[in-house]
Amino acid sequence: MRRALVAGNWKMNGSQASIKSLVSDLLPVLANGINGVDVVVCPPYPYLGQVAEAAFGSEIVLGAQDLSEEASGAFTGEVSGSMLSDFRVRFVLVGHSERRVRCGESDELVAKKFAAAQAAGLIPVLCVGESLDHRQSGHAEDVVATQMTAIIEQCGVKALEDAVIAYEPVWAIGTGQAASAEDAQLMHAFIRQVVAQFDAGVASGVQILYGGSVNADNAEALFACEDIDGGLVGGASLNAKDFIRICQSVS
Ligand code: G3H
Repeated sequence: MRRALVAGNWKMNGSQASIKSLVSDLLPVLANGINGVDVVVCPPYPYLGQVAEAAFGSEIVLGAQDLSEEASGAFTGEVSGSMLSDFRVRFVLVGHSERRVRCGESDELVAKKFAAAQAAGLIPVLCVGESLDHRQSGHAEDVVATQMTAIIEQCGVKALEDAVIAYEPVWAIGTGQAASAEDAQLMHAFIRQVVAQFDAGVASGVQILYGGSVNADNAEALFACEDIDGGLVGGASLNAKDFIRICQSVS
């Protein structure tokens, strides 16, 4: 039985004041945890310390939005996995489409970041997903299989035992147009099949989250699907009431 996980990706949003208020709204409900659901929040780097301190002792787990593939050294502007661990970060997103597209992150770089996360004791949340063009031209599965296979070939399938996968169709991110539960379930089952070609045990154990316009109204139907183990939530995670409702939507 896989545990559910809901992660809020705050992206490049917030200020000390707004984050203080968001965390204080989340804590009364989430501090003692929600049965069967792990709740993660991924603030922007400068606010990690603030959230780590405010959420200390609660069941809210800290995540980061990215990390360097390098361990340390002369890499101006980069943040290493060990620095994140130092702030009690447990999860880190790798390969988010906003970084693949805007920063040109290749599958090879994503695999290096995935490995760097694990080397620092972090759990990578590997984001995969197709663009609208790829979906419309019937290549969605090919794209996702290529993204998955790149990691499996470079890091080994067993590395997925200590990782989470997030399926995020690019066309659904921030658009208000979530994938239907049926389409999302089909792709999640497909991702599990891709992993199963390498190791069936790893495939059945790995958590696969859905991301892309998850909100308080569609979360329940998405999370009820057999192969959907929770969500990676962007915009709706900035609203405490919505994020709490989403976390409570796990059946
Ligand atoms: O990391 C989160 C995803 O990009 C989804 O963002 O919920 O705003 O569509 P969204």
